[in-house]
Amino acid sequence: PAALLIWGLAGYLLGSIPFGIVLARVFGLGDLRSIGSGNIGATNVLRTGNKTAAALTLVLDGAKGAAAVLIARALAGEDAVQLAGLMAFLGHCFPVWLRFKGGKGVATFLGLLLAYAFPLGLAACATWLATALILRISSLSALVAAAMAPIWALLLGRADATLMLIVLALLVFIRHRPNIQRLLAGQEPKIGKK
Ligand code: G3P
Repeated sequence: PAALLIWGLAGYLLGSIPFGIVLARVFGLGDLRSIGSGNIGATNVLRTGNKTAAALTLVLDGAKGAAAVLIARALAGEDAVQLAGLMAFLGHCFPVWLRFKGGKGVATFLGLLLAYAFPLGLAACATWLATALILRISSLSALVAAAMAPIWALLLGRADATLMLIVLALLVFIRHRPNIQRLLAGQEPKIGKK
């Protein structure tokens, strides 16, 4: 249990690195929290118009989730993996460095899932992408991908991931409450629009 705590903490710390804020600063785009939705994720970085910074944010926020899973798997074994991934997600959403006001966890969710069970991660990414191509709304694509993920786990024979994915999906929905309100009011902007 003490070892598990350490892997949980390591996952949290990795997840808590706010790449969106760092990259927006490096690229001279200003403070993300006063732009667009105020969120620290790739979708909001894209609202600055800088596609490179947005793509890097997506990849690095995903990579930290994958890294938490892969490092825990390599050094502690499969028992620590779900905890490390979940804690990376929580680190992104509630980073101590930003007084626990973090992001919505979508890129980190996809990254940790790709590392946890690659086919399942691909299915979740494809669900996000298909929804985004049709509807062009990032938050809605995330909600659909998160809600579908436990179902994909069952369909793809990874029932071991179902409980973790239900927890993650609930957290993704909770983090998207303002988006859900905008969606219901028909006011959620399309990808890349302010
Ligand atoms: O990944 C977060 C996305 O689903 C919504 O971002 O900035 O539109 O709230 P945003």
